[in-house]
Formats: sequence, C-alpha cells, structure tokens
Amino acid sequence: MSAQSSAPRLPVGAGGSHQAARASRKDEHLDLALRLHGQDRPNAFDDVAFMHHALAATAATQVDPSATVCGAQWAEPFYINAMTGGTRNTMRINSELAGAAAEAGVAVACGSQHIALDDPERAESFRIIRRRAPRAFILANVGPTMDPAQAVRAVEMLEANALQIHLNAAQELVMPEGDRDLRDWAQRIDAIVKAVPVPVVVKEVGFGISARTMASLSRLGASAVDVAGTGGTDFIAIENERRPDHSYSYLTGWGQSTVLCLLESLCAEPAARRPGGDSARGTERPVGQTDEHGAQLEVLASGGVRHPLDVVRALALGARAVGVSGHFLRTLSRSGPEGLRHELALWSEQVRTLMTLLGAADIAALRRTDLLVTGRTAEQARLLGVD
Ligand code: FNR
Repeated sequence: MSAQSSAPRLPVGAGGSHQAARASRKDEHLDLALRLHGQDRPNAFDDVAFMHHALAATAATQVDPSATVCGAQWAEPFYINAMTGGTRNTMRINSELAGAAAEAGVAVACGSQHIALDDPERAESFRIIRRRAPRAFILANVGPTMDPAQAVRAVEMLEANALQIHLNAAQELVMPEGDRDLRDWAQRIDAIVKAVPVPVVVKEVGFGISARTMASLSRLGASAVDVAGTGGTDFIAIENERRPDHSYSYLTGWGQSTVLCLLESLCAEPAARRPGGDSARGTERPVGQTDEHGAQLEVLASGGVRHPLDVVRALALGARAVGVSGHFLRTLSRSGPEGLRHELALWSEQVRTLMTLLGAADIAALRRTDLLVTGRTAEQARLLGVD
C-alpha cells in the first residue's frame, strides 16, 4: 500500500478547497510516514534490558496478558493507534486496520476526525472502523481545538468506547498551514472531558508527555494519557518535508522518548502508593498521577514500539497498554491485510512467550520484574532525578 496522490477522493462538501487541502494532507502524511520511516530504527527501548532469571516460575498456559483500560478489559495489551481517515485511500486503510483488529481482538483508534466533522460526507471513512470491528474497543480522535459538541459527534460517529484528544504542538508549528495560537488547549480539554459520555485519553503524536503535563491532565479530568514519545514516527520530520524550505531539519528528534516518559511518570507517583518505596527493582511499579478525588490517571505508552519485546518493556515500565502506529502501517503497506493479521497474531503469541520467559503470569507481575536502564536514557533519567 502506498498513499496514492492520484487516488479518487470522497465527495467534497461545503468548504471544498479547504477540505481538499486537508484531504491531500492526510494522504501526504501516510506517504511521508512510509517514505521517511521505512523501517524500525534503534531507539530508547534498546536502553531497557530485563534481568534473566533462569528459574522462571510460570507456564505459558498460565499467562494472562489482558489489560484493563478505561474500565474495559482488553484481551491483548497492545493496540492499533491513531492514524487516518477522510479520503478514499484512507478509508481502505481504516477498513483493513479495523478488520485485522477485529480478528486479533485488539483495540483500534482512528485518525483525527476533524475532516469528517466539517464535511459529513467524509464520515464513512471513519464509520467503516465500527462496521468492520463491531465488538472492538474503538477510540475516536479529535484535537483540543474542537468544541464539546463536535467531540460528542466524533464519539457518536464511531460509537466509540473512548475519545482520544491529540496534543500536537510541535507538529502544528512546523506544519506550513498549522495553528499558531495554542493558548486555550487546557480549557478546551476541560470542556470536552465534561461533555463526552466516554473516558478521555489525551495523547501526544510522538514527542512525549512530561510528568508536569500529566499532572495538568489529571486535574482536567482525563481518564488516561498515552505518552506517545519519540523513537518512531516523527511529525517534525514529516511536516518539515512538506515545507518548501525544509528549514526545520535541525528540530528532528525533539521531545522525550517513550521510555523516559514512563520512567518520569513512575517517579511522579506518590511514594506512598509505591509498594516498597522508591525502588523500581523487584517491586510493582504503578504509574500515573492521582487527581483530587483520588482517581488514578491511567498511562498508556506508544511511540517507537517495534516488536513484542518493546511491548513487554513498556508494560514492565508501568504502561497499561501499548499503542503502535508506524510499525503496523508499514506491515500493512508491505504485506497487505493478510500480513497485518499474521503480525498481530504473532505479537499476541510472542507477548505471552516473553511473559513466560520472565516468569510473569500477568501484567502486575511484569511490573515486578528486574529492569536495567542504561545509556542515554539512564543519563536523562538521572538528570530528571528519576533514576
Ligand atoms: C499518526 N498519529 C496520529 N495521532 C493522532 O492522535 N491523530 C492523528 O490523526 C494521527 N495521524 C497519524 C498519521 C500517521 C500516518 C501516523 C504514522 C501517525 C500519531 C500516532 O497515533 C502515534 O502517536 C505516533 O505515530 C507514534 O507512534 P509510532 O508511529 O512511533 O508507533
């Protein structure tokens, strides 16, 4: 699969030329994500190693990798994260992602729905996800600039189980036609959280969420954050490529890695809630922040997840579940829908195998495994005081 710029477009409604530009941006993002990030690269997950204990004490048949996210039980602790929708080409991709998700029993998110909120004729490219995955946990997706009524419509469009709000400041600022006024995002998130009938997951798009931002989001009533850190898809590189002057090349790599975000969120957890105190060794590592009502902000991880070992590393660092965009997009592009279905089944099997190797019967046990964090990530963690 590739984003064919010659692909026929869905009918264009009111505000045609603006919508057409938005639609072609959707196809360009896919095309550039595949072209610039053609393969998995080394990243901060490589700084995380498990201590191997030769007397592992569990059986593969005993392993339960299910995850509890936003009050729902997920059979698999990984999911297909937000990517696309709005054009005929992206409708096919959403259909194929959703079909594979339904078969594998994994949750799936759609890309930003702004294009369909402005032009209802484009909604079918998102609705296809619910049609192909009638029983899946589906996450709708908007940015913080949507008003509460639009966010409610986004959820209804997909009969979604949760709503993602994407924070993409770096992308907007490098995007030639992006927003330049980012002032009132927090108030808008607050209003959306109060209006929608489902849990809200606030996510980055590949630059990471700091503990300070997490604390704000907790106060705003978000149910979960997806730290979506560096190491995989880089929207500064993608938007820079769309600029005629390519003048932001130096900014590539901006942000925090997914691993560093998880380490920081571990230490943001009040010590009293950490069994065994501060040590991240041999004790369960709960992650997240507690709002004023005592509710725990759930932490999901995405950004640069390449294989089942990265999934297990992120879970051991406290993520409730692990999102994947770039790797699954490349799998679909290279191997088609059948290849993606095979990949999801392989990940499902291998997450269980790795948990068996680690002697972890469930995700809570994974958090008690012994981790070694080295290299640049260890140095950054030390500077943040979270080592
Ligand atoms: C994305 N991502 C994204 N996120 C979001 O919240 N809304 C969106 O519309 C999109 N669009 C989008 C398009 C494409 C082509 C890609 C590859 C990604 C970001 C995505 O959900 C994720 O946060 C990042 O891609 C980091 O994960 P990976 O790609 O490193 O696994």
